[in-house]
Amino acid sequence: PETGCLSIIVLGASGDLAKKKTFPALFNLYCQGFLPPDEVHIFGYARTKISDDDLRNRIRGYLVNDRSASPSEDVSKFLQLIQYVSGSYDGAEGFQLLDKEITKHEISKSSQEGSSRRLFYLALPPSVYPSVCRMIRKYCMNKSDLGGWTRIVVEKPFGKDLDSAEQLSSQIGELFDEPQIYRIDHYLGKELVQNLLVLRFANRFFLPLWNRDNIDNVQIVFREDFGTEGRGGYFDEYGIIRDIIQNHLLQVLCLVAMEKPVSLKPEHIRDEKVKVLQSVLPIKDEEVVLGQYEGYRDDPTVPNHSNTPTFATVILRIHNERWEGVPFILKAGKALNSRKAEIRVQFKDVPGDIFKCQKQGRNEFVIRLQPSEAMYMKLTVKQPGLDMSTVQSELDLSYRQRYQGVTIPEAYERLILDTIRGDQQHFVRRDELKAAWEIFTPLLHRIDNGEMKPIPYRTGSRGPAEADELSAKAGYVQTHGYIWIPPTL
Ligand code: BG6
Repeated sequence: PETGCLSIIVLGASGDLAKKKTFPALFNLYCQGFLPPDEVHIFGYARTKISDDDLRNRIRGYLVNDRSASPSEDVSKFLQLIQYVSGSYDGAEGFQLLDKEITKHEISKSSQEGSSRRLFYLALPPSVYPSVCRMIRKYCMNKSDLGGWTRIVVEKPFGKDLDSAEQLSSQIGELFDEPQIYRIDHYLGKELVQNLLVLRFANRFFLPLWNRDNIDNVQIVFREDFGTEGRGGYFDEYGIIRDIIQNHLLQVLCLVAMEKPVSLKPEHIRDEKVKVLQSVLPIKDEEVVLGQYEGYRDDPTVPNHSNTPTFATVILRIHNERWEGVPFILKAGKALNSRKAEIRVQFKDVPGDIFKCQKQGRNEFVIRLQPSEAMYMKLTVKQPGLDMSTVQSELDLSYRQRYQGVTIPEAYERLILDTIRGDQQHFVRRDELKAAWEIFTPLLHRIDNGEMKPIPYRTGSRGPAEADELSAKAGYVQTHGYIWIPPTL
């Protein structure tokens, strides 16, 4: 691994994302020894004029690490690595000052052999990405005589539709090369999402079955049991399709559906993901159900007549040899009856089935992304006992049970480590982003224009009944009288 001076600059240091995700992830990396204090310095940058200690106090409460042997000592030591610089997002002054401070730190550490590595994490609204990138490019690039690199980490929303996303991409693309840009989709940092590649391509079991001859339908589902809670203003501008489906669920779909990459090189993997996205057919209106939970508009930051969906089921169809005819049912909703994310691969019925009259359900392979990470295969077995009857059961690989004592890293923790290491495998490439927007833009425009309306649903329900009807029509068969229970230790 590279050594030498590493400066991590969190822009938007006092915002929600920085407090809740970025700093805690950095803290976890620190506790595991990935951010050695003799090399690393962390800078917080934002407009508010506060002191180093003010910033430290604001984030202290978010730093929890139950893996650490001496948590409070670790917290204090970590906080000492953080320095605050205030400045605007579009003026030279602040960024010149920032560069001065980073350089100071680089010089003080230059006794060690090494380089000037600068990681800029934009925990900011996308409206300021272009100006911030311009300022970084102009004033804060790594000192080339020391070598090293400058990298930029950005978060969604990357635009609101194809045009705005492309515009943002070109603005940033004029300033930085693609290998310097890390577009985070934190779903790509989840353990079971990262496992998809291994699962599919390292197991003989799946190779011959993973296609239209055997699979009837695929569901990728995201549920949350709370509403927009304080984020109504942001959410209403975007809605559930832009917030969850166009990015998180679509990324998962790519990994479920793609062909085997030439190798594990990031570009080979991303090439295959792009191909899947480009093979998706235009979405049909009759394969969409939108919902909005009752009470959503009571949020004072949400307009009274908002047409924004908080729930959507959208069926995507992939036009290629492997998947023609197999619906990919993407479903996401807020304020539903449970919180979970999972992939359900449902197999076709057994041909010429001699157990048909007693059978309870189809084979289904379920990957539970969260909570209670697991993979389980629903299958029919003989009911143990004297009778020759059948029952639905499962082969279960529950992580909590199988990997006792192993802590699954947080998505952000893993992804930030990748940005330091220069591995772009789990980040969204520009052409991938474009292809993703191409799929959803026509539908989003129709919703924005009020041509499609969300159906009201009760808070704490499964969402609109029409969504279940649509899934059933697409071929999904619900198993009644069977439920998977995560094993307890
Ligand atoms: C974010 C969305 O990207 O993902 C939020 O903006 C959502 O609305 C969150 O709550 C869900 O992430 P996770 O990791 O809790 O499933």
